[in-house]
Amino acid sequence: MKKINAGIIGVGFIGVAHIEALRRLSNVNVVAIADDESVVKAKAEQLGVDTYYSDWQQLINSKDIDCVHICTPNHLHYMMAKAALSAGKHVVCEKPLTTNKSETEELVALAEQKGLVNAVNFNVRFYPLVQQIKAAIENGDMGRIFSVHGSYLQDWLFYDTDYNWRLEPETAGESRAVADIGSHWMDLIEFITGLRATEVFADFATFHKTRKKPLKPIETYAGKLLKPEDYKEVPINTEDYATVIFRFDNGARGALTVSQVCAGRKNRITFEIAGSKKAAAWTSESPNEVWIGKRDGANELLIRDPSLVYPGSRELIDYPGGHNEGFPDTFKQNFKKIYGVISGEKTVKEYPEFSAGLRGISLCEKIVQSNKTDSWVKI
Ligand SMILES: NC(=O)c1ccc[n+]([C@@H]2O[C@H](COP(=O)([O-])OP(=O)(O)OC[C@H]3O[C@@H](n4cnc5c(N)ncnc54)[C@H](O)[C@@H]3O)[C@@H](O)[C@H]2O)c1
Repeated sequence: MKKINAGIIGVGFIGVAHIEALRRLSNVNVVAIADDESVVKAKAEQLGVDTYYSDWQQLINSKDIDCVHICTPNHLHYMMAKAALSAGKHVVCEKPLTTNKSETEELVALAEQKGLVNAVNFNVRFYPLVQQIKAAIENGDMGRIFSVHGSYLQDWLFYDTDYNWRLEPETAGESRAVADIGSHWMDLIEFITGLRATEVFADFATFHKTRKKPLKPIETYAGKLLKPEDYKEVPINTEDYATVIFRFDNGARGALTVSQVCAGRKNRITFEIAGSKKAAAWTSESPNEVWIGKRDGANELLIRDPSLVYPGSRELIDYPGGHNEGFPDTFKQNFKKIYGVISGEKTVKEYPEFSAGLRGISLCEKIVQSNKTDSWVKI
């Protein structure tokens, strides 16, 4: 079997998850990483990767690399994805794809013109029971969708001493909680239901108007391990919290709450979809079960088990029932689909392409606009 060579740019929190997932695939070699000069050699040793670069352009230009994974802060995605596509490399980019719509449109067009694989890591789609609910809706089991509600809650920015590049709009983009985590929820809901949001109304809040910025850089989620000393007080102008309400193209209604300051909620994405026949609810912190709500009869709890689900969901299950799969498995399953197309083994693109990233950015921009104007905004 010919192995496909992958290179990873940015090996902080999520770049490492990419490497672990890629190493679980039989047709991929992780051959190189790129990161800041101060960390890249140590990271390469720690991760067991032979080749490392402190200049990401060298990784992109390496003739040994077939596919580039972009796992850096958001503002770098555009230039890195553009350079990688221009160099003839397939690209897997983290969400949000860029920080604004015009850059995203340019990337979608470039990827199309080059005919290269272009994927966004909306990994939450790849929980098997998420795709079970999608299949149930497609098969008419749930009837017409009336409403969708849910949330994406975290607490890692709870204290004003919690700090990360995501708090800086020039690095993360104009929206924080909505773009960073709300984007997953919105992608998920449109993916599962097949509905399109047509109008949004948003209400943002920033509870910590200033935060204490550490005087040295820290990795995502590492803040809790640092002692709160030597901080600089900086103003914060992106949202800690947002409520967004939606109107969908079939007349359904939706509501989303996102928060990065919700004590005790570590990384919890949840949704409940109510249809004219049944309802379904799922939470990422218990991803191996789905609640099915019924009016005329006992409710059900479906436990992830390959023998009990639709074929599309079964394809994402590599372990028998009771042997739980979770967050890292979603990366593996997304990459399996992506590398199946790169290798030519698969022709159907069953992964989110840059067009899904564009949809996400477009929704985000409308949500920001709605919050600013305090009004419904059409999409
Ligand atoms: N799909 C998911 O579930 C998920 C989860 C977390 C993060 N993400 C996304 O992944 C991206 C990275 O987030 P993270 O949490 O890993 O951040 P992080 O801060 O932990 O890691 C980012 C890494 O990029 C490196 N970097 C910064 N500038 C660079 C440059 N010019 N060249 C090379 N390397 C550079 C940093 O040194 C760091 O190692 C973000 O876009 C984020 O939205 C996605």
